[in-house]
Amino acid sequence: MSTYAAQKESSHSELMDSIYRRQRHFYDATRKYYLLGRDRMIRDLDMAPRQSLLEIGCGTGRNLALAARRYPDIRLHGLDISAEMLTSAEKTLLCLGRTESVLKLGDAAQMQAADFGVVGFDRIMISYALSMIPEWEKTIDAALAALKPGGSLHIADFGQQRRLPVWFRYGLRSWLRRFHVTPRAELETVLQSLAASGKFSLEFKSHARDYAWIAAIRRK
Ligand SMILES: C[S@@+](CC[C@H](N)C(=O)[O-])C[C@H]1O[C@@H](n2cnc3c(N)ncnc32)[C@H](O)[C@@H]1O
Repeated sequence: MSTYAAQKESSHSELMDSIYRRQRHFYDATRKYYLLGRDRMIRDLDMAPRQSLLEIGCGTGRNLALAARRYPDIRLHGLDISAEMLTSAEKTLLCLGRTESVLKLGDAAQMQAADFGVVGFDRIMISYALSMIPEWEKTIDAALAALKPGGSLHIADFGQQRRLPVWFRYGLRSWLRRFHVTPRAELETVLQSLAASGKFSLEFKSHARDYAWIAAIRRK
């Protein structure tokens, strides 16, 4: 397994490390109750043997591990700005015996397929990370540019909770702010305008009464 250390320390990476230094130890056990839609996104990946998968903002490696169990012969790659989270991801993948996986430390908005020594990925997933990435639109552009022709980008993140009680929505928002999480209200519009270019097709789903959004954007 190769873990690559980014040259430049940014304040955002320090912020993420400070949030996750302790939380990463109980992250998977707690997040399963409120990061909804991740398993559905993984089912939608629909991968064939030997295809490549990158998770941007891979955190503890929980999603990569699940994808590896569902699609046993795929090649795994992970990117995260937090060295703390990557320590957990490395451990997760080692436990699965996926020692050939490639994990890198870096900023999602700057990522390129070449950083991983490949021309492109068959699948890229971004799960509950766009809501924490300041340059989230740039990250979507970078991910789409890193897809092989015919490849797809899969996103799961907080929706707008339009079919849930207002008190729940406000409570959730103020709680998320404490963790520097901002649900991206414009996500669907941004993806629709990318699809309007004719280069991509878009499938956008509301999940659990609009608690979460799940999107798949395919490169033609
Ligand atoms: C809420 S966690 C989600 C982790 C994982 N994807 C999941 O579904 O459990 C968000 C992750 O995004 C990472 N992250 C935040 N900003 C980032 C950036 N600019 N570039 C890369 N990763 C980033 C954080 O370090 C963290 O691991």
